[in-house]
Amino acid sequence: MKLWKGRFSKAATSSADEFNASIEFDQRLYKEDITGSIAHAEMLGRQGIIKPEEARLIIDTLKEILNDIEAGKVEFTIESEDIHMNIESILTERIGDVGKKLHTARSRNDQIAVDIRLYLKKETAAVDAVLSELTDALEKLAKEHTDTVMPGYTHLQRAQPVTLAYHLLAYYQMFSRDIERFDDCLRRIDRLPLGSGALAGTTYDTDRDFLAEKLGFSQVLPNAMDAVADRDFAIEFINCCAITMMHLSRFCEELILWSSAEFNFIEIDDSFSTGSSIMPQKKNPDMAELIRGKTGRVYGDLMSLLTICKGLPMAYNKDLQEDKIPVFDAVDTLKASVSIFTEMILTMKVREENMEEAAKYGYMNATDAADYLVSKGIPFRDCHEIIGRMVLYCINKGVALDDLTMEEFKSFSDKFDDDIYDKIAVRSCIKAKKSRGSTSFESVEAQLAEISGKKR
Ligand code: ARG
Repeated sequence: MKLWKGRFSKAATSSADEFNASIEFDQRLYKEDITGSIAHAEMLGRQGIIKPEEARLIIDTLKEILNDIEAGKVEFTIESEDIHMNIESILTERIGDVGKKLHTARSRNDQIAVDIRLYLKKETAAVDAVLSELTDALEKLAKEHTDTVMPGYTHLQRAQPVTLAYHLLAYYQMFSRDIERFDDCLRRIDRLPLGSGALAGTTYDTDRDFLAEKLGFSQVLPNAMDAVADRDFAIEFINCCAITMMHLSRFCEELILWSSAEFNFIEIDDSFSTGSSIMPQKKNPDMAELIRGKTGRVYGDLMSLLTICKGLPMAYNKDLQEDKIPVFDAVDTLKASVSIFTEMILTMKVREENMEEAAKYGYMNATDAADYLVSKGIPFRDCHEIIGRMVLYCINKGVALDDLTMEEFKSFSDKFDDDIYDKIAVRSCIKAKKSRGSTSFESVEAQLAEISGKKR
């Protein structure tokens, strides 16, 4: 039965009913919806808007309905349109007229707004939990690889040697900021819209502070029109998801490259790889590719909600019913991607020897060779030029800088001495970094110490 049927002389066609209904996807909010309703009923009872015993009956029955939904005993109907009216109808079926009093001083507009905010508060904690598992995994791997030397790249060209720990800690920082970003977003999710009515407030002497306290919101939204009309907090949440996916996707891209025969730096575990239906030899990094692909999907969720909201006049418009689809999709996609990714990196095999071998070639010690000449009093720009010519000489000869004889070194600059060989050895290049936050072994230890210090 339609709860709003009074004003209508004609029923909607069944296709219009189906088109209008959101129960198919918003049933996911049943718990938040009931939680909000229980707090609302309690407030109505306390304020004398309904009788205390009516409030009691409503609350007890809502709890029963919650249990029945969780036990799979409740069938939602398209006729009742959305989760709010489905639950209200069931309530009224069970307790008759008293059930009809629950919607006093409330609208579905503030009801859905409180549901999504409660949902996103819960999901922020869930996202934090999976992201913390990821940062823990990165910390663990970084500790295991403080001595694993690899090429550091810019433009995907070998640039300067780094350690794998350093590379992993770069991602640690990105994902830590993602956690921070979600927590910051939570501050704006954590504000109560309930009690706003449809758009203008209500005529009842409600107590919104009580509702906020009861539902665990730290603030009450100060303007009812804003409270029911805006979804900026949800956009912001999906934005946090999108940025996190972007970080994951970059890492996936690297794992895909690293597991190719061309790099051969890692091997993704069989349990996170798939085969080819035609090429028997193939082992494909599908999980990493899927996360990279799903990143596009989450960007789409963000664009979708931004676009849904962009032309809406104040206050609530039914367009907003569409907000839940991108919100749910972003939450599901992000959590699944982060979890799979964490398991994948914890089980992958790192081929340290290949990383180190790669770090020896590509003239990645050229900057260190230039720094050597700087230490002998030659201005950096001139050193850059000298080493550039040496690299060209080596390329033509097919050797590394380290392979040159002392005479060859001297022919480029008489400032070179025997200690150059040690200065440009791959580990020396790493060790020599002095700036804070560098790849030096010492700096990486300091970064690790800072991480574990923060946890305590
Ligand atoms: N199902 C609706 C939504 O998700 C609930 C609010 C409906 N409000 C209304 N005035 N039709 O947005």
